[in-house]
Amino acid sequence: MTKQKVVVLRWGHRHRDQRLTSHVALTSRALGASGFVLADITDVKVKETVEKIIDAWGGDFSFEMGLPWKQVVKDWHANGGVTVHLTAYGENIQTSDVMERIRGSGKDVMVIVGSQKVPAGFFSESTSDFNVAVGNQPHSECSSLAVFLDRFFEGKELSGDFISHQKKKIVPQVRGKRVVDV
Ligand SMILES: C[S@@+](CC[C@H](N)C(=O)[O-])C[C@H]1O[C@@H](n2cnc3c(N)ncnc32)[C@H](O)[C@@H]1O
Repeated sequence: MTKQKVVVLRWGHRHRDQRLTSHVALTSRALGASGFVLADITDVKVKETVEKIIDAWGGDFSFEMGLPWKQVVKDWHANGGVTVHLTAYGENIQTSDVMERIRGSGKDVMVIVGSQKVPAGFFSESTSDFNVAVGNQPHSECSSLAVFLDRFFEGKELSGDFISHQKKKIVPQVRGKRVVDV
């Protein structure tokens, strides 16, 4: 798997979005990202949900919340990373070479996903090095993130293990469920 690290920043969370935001964080973790930032707001319920999963199923995954998005992006750039804003209006992931350019940067990637309509500034060079569309039709932060991560990691993230701190793991079955304590 590439050495480039990916961290996901979720903007615009409202408390009614708790379930979806938790799913965005869990998608980030399961599909190879190293961390998740819930920007500008704190939501203890989301934090608990994500930490419970990490505690049981393992892996190194950071969770932060309440940090102002502008500061997070500024710090990310200052540390040499690039930012990718997922938006239906961006360069098409299938028909453009945007993914090659992101990979070619060799830099760690912060993926920004919205919820409500994002501020116009998100499209600017100072915030987003790349504006990427997972098809130019509006859908969801969860689906666009999943497709982006899977393409970025070329599917290799799906065979990854979550060995560190792991308490239990799933043993794949043709039928039925098998979970073993580790
Ligand atoms: C429900 S959509 C937001 C729609 C909002 N009304 C707007 O006009 O931006 C929530 C988030 O999903 C992501 N998203 C939705 N469709 C996408 C697409 N085709 N490609 C990439 N990201 C997408 C974006 O990050 C967006 O901020």
